[in-house]
Amino acid sequence: MKWYKKLIALAALFVFVFTGIAAIEEPAGEFKNLQVLPKNITPDSLDRIMGGFNDGLGVNCTFCHTENKNTKLMEAEKDTKPEKEITRNMMRMTMDINKNYFQFNENVNAKEVQAVTCYTCHKGQPIPEKVKKPATKDPFNFKSN
Ligand code: HEC
Ligand code: HEC
Repeated sequence: MKWYKKLIALAALFVFVFTGIAAIEEPAGEFKNLQVLPKNITPDSLDRIMGGFNDGLGVNCTFCHTENKNTKLMEAEKDTKPEKEITRNMMRMTMDINKNYFQFNENVNAKEVQAVTCYTCHKGQPIPEKVKKPATKDPFNFKSN
């Protein structure tokens, strides 16, 4: 075999192997960079969750997502803004609270009970408002109960 024929054969093999791997690793859903939400989430469910973020924090999509300067299209899969990574932790925290503290019994589980949401703390603001603490050395009011 001439050297260039070997090279072509090798190149063909590479293409085959790598596109093969790419096909296997392709997530089931259409979204590219989900680390907290299920990778096969439906576009409808994702839209509802993102809309909940907008309402809960009183912001627009671009509070967390970047826009391409040239095309003006949102690039939701990119992790450019710190707010997006903070939100991943906020999602984990909110899920943990519901799962660990609102698991009422085996029939009613945290998947159904959304007791705590972004709105519970944020009340339509990016940073929850700090209300002046009451003047007391007994923060949990044990004595008055
Ligand atoms: C408070 C922050 C926040 C807001 C506001 C927000 N998003 Fe997101 N969005 C996220 C985070 C965090 C993820 C990644 C979730 C994960 O890793 O599971 C995400 C993921 C996405 C994805 C999936 C991208 C991919 O391919 O991985 C889309 C699409 C999306 N958002 C669209 C929107 C739209 C449209 C809006 C406005 C209606 C919006 N988002 C508002 C934080 C936000
Ligand atoms: C238990 C209360 C609580 C819940 C629930 C909660 N957050 Fe937060 N969040 C906070 C507090 C408090 C801060 C401000 C922290 C600080 O002052 O640095 C914050 C800050 C943030 C920030 C940073 C804002 C900025 O401009 O720096 C983002 C983004 C955010 N939260 C998103 C969310 C999203 C999205 C959810 C729902 C998935 C959520 N949070 C649920 C309490 C909460």
